[in-house]
Amino acid sequence: MEPQEILGALMRPPGRDDPYPLYAAARQLGPLFAIPEFNLHVCTGFELINGVLRSPDFGKYEFEYLPQEVIDQYVEGGSVHTISSSILDANPPDHRRVRSLISSAFTPRRIAGLAPAITRVAGELFDEFERLGAQGDPVDFMEYFAFRFPVTVICELLGIPEQDRVRFRPLAHDLTVALELIDDLTKLAPADAAAAELRAYFEKLSEQRRAQPEDDLISALVQVNDADDGRLSDGELIANLTLLLVAGFETTTNLLGNGLELALKHPHVAEGVRKGEIPVAAFVEEVLRFDSPVQLTSRTALTDGAKVGGKEVKRGEQVMLLMGAAHRDPARFTDPDTFDPLRPDNTSLSFGGGIHYCLGQGLARLEAQIAFAQLFERFPEIRLAAEPTRSDRLVLRGYETLEVVLQGAAA
Ligand code: HEM
Repeated sequence: MEPQEILGALMRPPGRDDPYPLYAAARQLGPLFAIPEFNLHVCTGFELINGVLRSPDFGKYEFEYLPQEVIDQYVEGGSVHTISSSILDANPPDHRRVRSLISSAFTPRRIAGLAPAITRVAGELFDEFERLGAQGDPVDFMEYFAFRFPVTVICELLGIPEQDRVRFRPLAHDLTVALELIDDLTKLAPADAAAAELRAYFEKLSEQRRAQPEDDLISALVQVNDADDGRLSDGELIANLTLLLVAGFETTTNLLGNGLELALKHPHVAEGVRKGEIPVAAFVEEVLRFDSPVQLTSRTALTDGAKVGGKEVKRGEQVMLLMGAAHRDPARFTDPDTFDPLRPDNTSLSFGGGIHYCLGQGLARLEAQIAFAQLFERFPEIRLAAEPTRSDRLVLRGYETLEVVLQGAAA
């Protein structure tokens, strides 16, 4: 297949449902290939992607590299502007300044201290899950656990009231269209509407915390913003609260769904975890490699003379990093298409690398380990009730629905 054909196919539903054959076709073109028409290079090799993520010669795209007619189509205060005002899309020195304000909430010690509370939340949600499926009725794992669990945890951490949380699944779903590869900017309309709603929500909540601070991350960031000393602007406050909320659950929701589907396909693995023969952490790491919730990211060459694997990439040109393909790179993994939680030396690029290395990786890993340990223990007979449906997404890969029965015969 030609490079453009592969890219086009990845943007359409069959390719998004199962991108792995397309990644294999891309790998045939080499670990790095160019699509000059789009000023784009595509990377499929594990080591090359790892190198780009860590290289100071590459960073997030700057608006200066985009044609004015594209910039003009972005809605002021909309999805693209919100994401690009957050640390996810910032370059040094702004990135370093803002990330250091947030990272204290995510130190390994703080995250480990959350384990008892997270265990309790998982237990309560599985109680409800069990009640819903007690008569052998199908229950949607995505709606009743995979969404509710991480959203509860991140909202507790940020300080978001319980009654507000149900809106967040559709809002996050709409907003994250802005992270996808899209061929038509009008598709951003729902993402822009979601960004506007989240902005209004966080502005109101910040005002409340300003008047009455609490012991939560929103209050802490509002105080930094109030100091008015250039550490955190109003726009950065709202953009990063939005990022933390959305990044804090959408990806973890997908890790839980992708993991359960794999466990149902490989019942001996769930049994191995239950019996203590397979560490639950190893199961989670293999899910992250085999069917990663984040399939790709991109970087732009920030300097002249930037190189990937010895090939020069001109300043302003983009490199698409296909982590989902790198995770099946035979140069890095033995039998890459086999799901094997006990494979040695199983490191993935699921959480990125370098200065943008996922701030929430410790939290996401802890949540997934706690959830799967409880799930396999409590529901040894769990099985699929219907064919699961994938979200129509490539970048954030997950299921829309995953209906299961907890005991008895599946429908
Ligand atoms: C399985 C779950 C998760 C996955 C797979 C994931 C993946 C990623 C990836 C790949 C990046 C880097 C993107 C890039 O380099 O372009 C990233 C960044 C980030 N993630 Fe996560 N993430 C997960 C969970 C979380 C959670 C739970 C939180 C928050 C509590 C979080 C917050 C962030 C933030 C704030 C960044 C931006 C960091 C920066 O740019 O410095 N993530 N994540």
